[in-house]
Amino acid sequence: PLTGLGQYPEGKKVNIAHRGASAYAPEHTLAAYRLAIEQGADYVEPDLQVTKDGVLVCLHDATLERTTNVRTVYPDRGRTETGPTGQIRQVWPVVDFTLDEIKQLDAGAWFGPQFAGEKVLTFQEMIDAVRGKAGIYPEIKHPARYAALGFDLPKLLYEALKKNGLDRPGADPRTPVIIQSFEADSLRRLRRLGCRLPLVFLIDDEAPGDWISPGGMRRIRRFATGVSPSKQIVVRQPEMVGWARAAGLSVTLYTFKSNATGEFPDVEAEMRHFLYERNVDAVFTNNPDRFPRQGRPE
Ligand code: G3P
Ligand code: CA
Repeated sequence: PLTGLGQYPEGKKVNIAHRGASAYAPEHTLAAYRLAIEQGADYVEPDLQVTKDGVLVCLHDATLERTTNVRTVYPDRGRTETGPTGQIRQVWPVVDFTLDEIKQLDAGAWFGPQFAGEKVLTFQEMIDAVRGKAGIYPEIKHPARYAALGFDLPKLLYEALKKNGLDRPGADPRTPVIIQSFEADSLRRLRRLGCRLPLVFLIDDEAPGDWISPGGMRRIRRFATGVSPSKQIVVRQPEMVGWARAAGLSVTLYTFKSNATGEFPDVEAEMRHFLYERNVDAVFTNNPDRFPRQGRPE
């Protein structure tokens, strides 16, 4: 059953594997997704980019060089770009390559030699791997930037879900789907397309906009069922959790990693604090095996 907050089972804390079990296996590969399921994740998160030929693929970055061997396979196809600190660098945008070309790349060796041979997955391959075993929590990456290139990511995502019969709440009880985005317009677009799935609005602590207030939460509720701030936002503004609940929004925090810092001895203690003392509903974590199922250590 869906709660009044729109998406999570009543009283249950929810474990979302961030890019798969990405502390232990290369993010967004079959190895990371399978391990997340073995470790008991309730949902697996794919970030979605689009290829030159319009296929949704599971990648966090809009460029290929961090998580694949694209520099070696296609040395002459990098573009020159000015980085955030003014340095000139070469990047290999996902959208410059067809799916066939991307499938030539190795997406695992960068993480460790035992993962050599892992491939970039299409969203369809991700669905096939996870369906029946966990929920799916796709994030539409950079929809405005892709719209300028002629790609309608909300529509591509919604059509993929329809094709798989996963486009309605409760369509497959073993595989609930929740869609997330940092861009309000892409969530509004999904609603206009007729999507009735739970939608979660992400908020970055470095660009929080004017959403972090009781009125801001009520405005989010017009187009989303949940809010997902960076945990730093909740540290700075703890009342935010109550404002979200009062507006009828669930609260999901990102991101919890094994190199936890600050006052917490480890990632499990950190997740326990936010889930049970600050009363958030769900967390995105690279360590789904460390998710605390109860408020006190076992
Ligand atoms: O989607 C939640 C969290 O994953 C957002 O950050 O950059 O890891 O996609 P990012
Ligand atoms: Ca994400």
